[in-house]
Formats: sequence, C-alpha cells, structure tokens
Amino acid sequence: SKILFNNEIIERNNIVDIEDRAYQFGDGIYEVIGVYNGTPLMLDEHMERLKRSAREIRLNLPEPTANLKRRLEELVSVNDLEEGIIYMQISRGIASREHYFPGDDVPPVTVAYTREEDRMTDVEDQGAKAVLADDIRWLRCDIKTLNLLPNAMAKQEAVENGAVEAILHRGNTVTEASASNVFMVKDGALYTHPADNYILNGITRKKLLQLASELGIKTHEETFTVDELLAADEVFVSATKLDVIPILKVDDHTIDNGLPGNITQKLVKAFRSLYE
Ligand code: PDD
Repeated sequence: SKILFNNEIIERNNIVDIEDRAYQFGDGIYEVIGVYNGTPLMLDEHMERLKRSAREIRLNLPEPTANLKRRLEELVSVNDLEEGIIYMQISRGIASREHYFPGDDVPPVTVAYTREEDRMTDVEDQGAKAVLADDIRWLRCDIKTLNLLPNAMAKQEAVENGAVEAILHRGNTVTEASASNVFMVKDGALYTHPADNYILNGITRKKLLQLASELGIKTHEETFTVDELLAADEVFVSATKLDVIPILKVDDHTIDNGLPGNITQKLVKAFRSLYE
C-alpha cells in the first residue's frame, strides 16, 4: 500500500533516517484515526488535536491542517481502505543529534499510512478484563507525543495477564488507560477524569460525553479513586477503533455482576450509530 511522506503519496519503503528526532528522542506528535466504511471518523477533531499537540511542543506544522486532512483522505482513497485506521506522525525533523531543537531551516517530517483492521464488535459486546498499573508517565499526558514507553510497558503488563487494558492510577486517582480513556458509572451517572494535563483528551471520550448528555445521562468530568472504580456499577474504556469496551474485571475484582452494564451498552450502540 501507499504512504504519505512529506506531502507526497508514494510507495512504502524504508524511509527512516537515523537522525530523525522522532527516532532518537520521540520528538514528535501523532494521531490515530478510525476509518469506517471508507470514511475517516471525526477527522476534523483529530486535526484540531494535532494542531494543539504541535503548538504545545513548539513544532511548526509543515502544512495547514486543511491540507493534511485532504492528503489523508486521498491516502484512504488510493489504498481503497474500507475498515481500519490511519496513522499519522510528524517529527521535528532530521538534524545532527543534539537535545535542543534544530533551527527553523530544519523541516518537520510527516509520515502517514493506513492499516486494515476489523471492528472489535465481539469485545464491545462481551466485554473484557483490565489490570491496574502505576501511572509513571510525565506531567503532560494531554499532548499526543511519540514518547510511549510507559504506555507500552503498561499495555504489555495487561497483555501478559490476558487483559485488554492497563488502567493507570497516579497515587489513588484513576487517570486513564495505557491507550484509552476510562469511564465509570455510579448510580446512573457517568464519571471520567477531567481533561487536564494528566490525561489525553480522547476524541472518542469527548464524543461519548456528548452522546451521554443527549441520552439524558448525567456526566461528571471529575476524578475518582481506585476504590471507587472497583465499587462502580459499570466500567468501560474508550479509544479510536476500540470505541467502547466494557470492563468486567479489574485485576481479580469483578465489577458489579460481571456483565456489560446498561449505560455502557447504550453508549456502544450510540457510538456505532455514528458510522453504521
Ligand atoms: N490511543 N489515552 C491515551 C493514552 C491514548 O493513547 C488514546 C488513544 C486515548 C484515546 O484517544 P482517542 O479517543 O482520541 O483515540 C486516550 C491511540 C488509539 C493509540 O495510541 O493507538
């Protein structure tokens, strides 16, 4: 399949430069966008977040996001992608290795490719297990940067324990999961960590909060503790392409009766109706 490389759509080949700052420092930003029935979902929102991430790490985007957006749509089309994802990353560029930023003469490096991926409807319907892990990340988790080692380590722990996700906590406070946001339902109301520097403000998260309001479900962007999570009526995680995954068990602790909850199922359905 083809890739986007610095504003050109070309054949996929080995394009990594050993002094690309993404490679040496994780110095760059990225987005993962879901593609359903050949259409990228909430592409404008992803472009807005990309713009914000760029601003926060002081990276000058190579193109206005409107152009990037058009290029991504073109890529989906030339690759005939029906179901899957677009991955896009922008690195600060290629320069002689120094920790400080290179000068403005060094252009950023943009790469995007598509990947076919089936929908996770089985897990969405049946639910899955999660583990708890210490949130050892830095204090700017709101930026979608390429520095994902702590996330990768947490996800590995989940997978080794037969779980889909690692739910992270800073001290006693639940933040998010290794690659998704965490929600809980208590007494009919929906809770999720506020969109501050401790979490990535998920595009799926924002949409779910909106859908919940439309369904008449009370929503609270408030922190909650690990104990409150374990005592919740329902727990789920949300992310691009995962959509909504009910969490039935956290470590050895069963959430409520161990079945996908009512509100969770409503949100699974509401989210699906965005693209079905
Ligand atoms: N991850 N929190 C973290 C740490 C994430 O990495 C992600 C997404 C989310 C959910 O964000 P969104 O709803 O915008 O996808 C929350 C992507 C999918 C990834 O790294 O593969």
